[in-house]
Amino acid sequence: MICVPIVGSTMDRARKDLDACQKLADIIELRLDLIDGFDLPLLLKEAGKPCIVTNRCKKDGGQFAGTEEERVEILRRAIELGADYIDIETSTPGPLLKSILENKGGVKVILSHHDFTRTPDDLIPLYDLMNQMPADVLKIVTYASDINDNLTLFRLLARARKDEKQMIAFCMGEKGEISRILTVQQGGWLTFGSLATGQESAPGQITAATLKHIYRVNDLKLETKVYGVIGDPVSKSMGYLIHNKAFQETGWPHVYVPLLIQNVTRFFNAYEPYLGGLSVTMPHKEAIMKAMDRIDPAAERIGAVNTVVSEGDQWAGHNTDYSGALKALEPHGPLKDKNILIIGAGGTAKAIGQGVVDQGAKLTLTYNRNRDKAQELADHLQGKLISIRDVDQAAVDILINCSPVGMAPNTNDTPYPARLLKKELVVFDSVYNPMATRLLKDAQAAGCVTISGVELFVHQAAEQFELWTGKPAPIDLMRRVVEDKLAPQQ
Ligand SMILES: NC(=O)c1ccc[n+]([C@@H]2O[C@H](COP(=O)([O-])OP(=O)(O)OC[C@H]3O[C@@H](n4cnc5c(N)ncnc54)[C@H](OP(=O)(O)O)[C@@H]3O)[C@@H](O)[C@H]2O)c1
Repeated sequence: MICVPIVGSTMDRARKDLDACQKLADIIELRLDLIDGFDLPLLLKEAGKPCIVTNRCKKDGGQFAGTEEERVEILRRAIELGADYIDIETSTPGPLLKSILENKGGVKVILSHHDFTRTPDDLIPLYDLMNQMPADVLKIVTYASDINDNLTLFRLLARARKDEKQMIAFCMGEKGEISRILTVQQGGWLTFGSLATGQESAPGQITAATLKHIYRVNDLKLETKVYGVIGDPVSKSMGYLIHNKAFQETGWPHVYVPLLIQNVTRFFNAYEPYLGGLSVTMPHKEAIMKAMDRIDPAAERIGAVNTVVSEGDQWAGHNTDYSGALKALEPHGPLKDKNILIIGAGGTAKAIGQGVVDQGAKLTLTYNRNRDKAQELADHLQGKLISIRDVDQAAVDILINCSPVGMAPNTNDTPYPARLLKKELVVFDSVYNPMATRLLKDAQAAGCVTISGVELFVHQAAEQFELWTGKPAPIDLMRRVVEDKLAPQQ
């Protein structure tokens, strides 16, 4: 279930939000501590869904400023009014908590515990204590300072499943995002989703629309495998949009999530049983190789893995920047003996450079500041190396920008002078934000064939999808998802 918290701040706003959340919410939480001058009978009447009434004090992350007696009195009133659920914290003074638990009538009580600073290594002793009280649902929410903290909550949910106890459990914070998505799959009773960005009732809350329509949390089963992108940062990644859409379209019953991690080995060892496959982004493309049982030969030559694939009980590392770039170039003829000028000599240049050299192209790389690093790559790929200032001296049939030049916000910059662009050139920009970079606009004006960074992004993602699922990727749909996401930024 998805629970949408109604966070006020006025009655007027709360009533509008109740109306707006009807299509998203399975259950609603009325956060009375956040709604000024709340009219509880009216809110309950207009809720339209089962309701949890919560009146949180400051030490538990709420805003209620009165005494504990006053706070609990409001919950007592919710019981009299016949609310479906009330939420009361373990930190409530004993006699008040006892009086609620012993006089709850037909109303179900959620007994909740919040830790806004950390996740203890073992939550079972706390669960055992809470489970001795006559509450209907237990809620334990902690703060994740490490991605592995989510697993502590999964272990707690496994215990509650075994006991057939209704349990709400997940981690807060950016590193807890995965447990907000997977808690229902792990047997949790519900997850919270905000009505809109900016209306979160706790740190790290995802919108209800994203939980429902992108992650499809209510459809995930215990056997659902977790796919995702590991990196640092991952908050800007579009992978969760494109892959979940492709999974949904093709009936692949799994989920794709962003995974913010620092230590690849620690993460991989702990999460391996849950994983179906991974995308890998900066800075982990080299470190992940140590965790693989097998590395695809092209990824081995590149020295970087951006895709982890499950092969029975083994893990294989691939590089789909390599194969995706070749797919994007494929419609424009064979690469054998073509003069290819790559601007930049970083990770993308390494993968695409290896791809075109493997196809028999003649490669020239450019350097900007870091000549030694670029020389090493040029030697490895047996290509030429020139300074970016000397690009007018290079023979070029295909120009590929693998530098960040032209990327937002510096959209007026171009890595290649417009006067050198001739209509026989194919110009491929790996930058995808904006979709139409200054380089691509100049190239179109000169009559060149152009390939945008979206093609690279979509093809490398499609290659990942096919490696994971063995099914053809819905590539047009994947392209539409990326274009829709990037369009407002144009
Ligand atoms: N479409 C996709 O799916 C996709 C995938 C991956 C990457 N990309 C794009 O590719 C770009 C590069 O990514 P990366 O991972 O390869 O980055 P990277 O490893 O940091 O390498 C960037 C390279 O660009 C060079 N460079 C920087 N400023 C330059 C300038 N003003 N003129 C010439 N060269 C310059 C750097 O050379 P020096 O060190 O000498 O300065 C370096 O060799 C990203 O910005 C991203 O937009 C797109």
